Amino acid sequence: MNAERRPVLLFAYFRPDADAWLSALAPAAADVEIRRWPEAGDPAEVDYLVAWQHPAGFLRQFPNLQAIFWIGAGVDRLMGDPDLPDTPVVRMQDDSLTIGMAEYVAERVLHYHRRMPLYAAQQRERTWRPLPQPLARDRVVGVLGLGEIGGASATALAGLGFDVRGWSRTQKTIPGVRAATGPLAEAVRGWEIVVCLLPLTPETRGVLNRELFAALDGAWLINAARGGHLAEADLIPALDAGCLAGATLDVFETEPLPPEHPFWSDARITITPHAAAISDPASAGAQIVANLRRHLSGQPMRGLVDRNRGY
Ligand code: NDP
Ligand code: OXD
Repeated sequence: MNAERRPVLLFAYFRPDADAWLSALAPAAADVEIRRWPEAGDPAEVDYLVAWQHPAGFLRQFPNLQAIFWIGAGVDRLMGDPDLPDTPVVRMQDDSLTIGMAEYVAERVLHYHRRMPLYAAQQRERTWRPLPQPLARDRVVGVLGLGEIGGASATALAGLGFDVRGWSRTQKTIPGVRAATGPLAEAVRGWEIVVCLLPLTPETRGVLNRELFAALDGAWLINAARGGHLAEADLIPALDAGCLAGATLDVFETEPLPPEHPFWSDARITITPHAAAISDPASAGAQIVANLRRHLSGQPMRGLVDRNRGY
């Protein structure tokens, strides 16, 4: 970095609510010159990039990046970008996202636990039939991925009284959660509701597949992580076979989900449009500013991605 000029931060956000993010980043103007794409100036002057959903080839033009701040928790798309430079990548870790995700998971788990799909079917038939209802403590709910979001979601479910299990790469200790590592098909035995909150990496791609479903018996699936976790062709056969009773999907291999996709019209599948949680620009933007200042003063940044692990 040239000592005579202020570092440049380029805000390159390819979504409609850019203004709210830019306002949240404004305090960083005390430390850096903020530019907004497409007014990038000389790309060689750009030191920091705050980005989300950039087009292919976009990164190639910035030869001197010091760090990339990604406006999302999942960095799979960035990690898969052939133009990603060997520079620190910081992902989003913010309460607004974590709490929102835990709320989404809690609502979906309670919905299945309280047998709402069956009551909805009964209502369509004008049938008045109370169903047996176990308590949450007798319902086994498992969470795949016990990181920032999975850990908070598992804790929220434990707080609701569920018998919570979890699975992650390294062993975790979370109060109220029976956590495991190792072969997934063994870990999920007995799970009645399966929640996927893994990052998408080469290891976790397609983890929600027929082998996993074969280890389940009428379970409910909630995938709020990435579409690439689900082997899409395996879902409807698993529902037909009774391995799964139903699924909620927030994320898809192709987004928006194409109108002709069979998931739209399957009553056993609930679809939300990648809306499980959305970062609040005010609080998440403040996280980026804090991290930028850490980097400028040589302190370790929060949410630094491990490039070898891919998350
Ligand atoms: P973290 O990186 O904090 O946690 C990831 C967890 O997954 C960790 O517990 C990690 O284990 C575990 N894990 C990673 N790889 C493996 C593996 N091969 N086998 C077993 N466990 C593994 O991520 P977050 O909790 O912040 O986010 C999770 C994902 O949620 C994001 O990557 C994103 O895809 C998705 N997301 C979706 C949103 C939506 O709106 N639908 C919004 C926000 C996030 P360990 O701790 O041992 O490393
Ligand atoms: C994220 C997301 O990764 O919104 O933050 O999916």
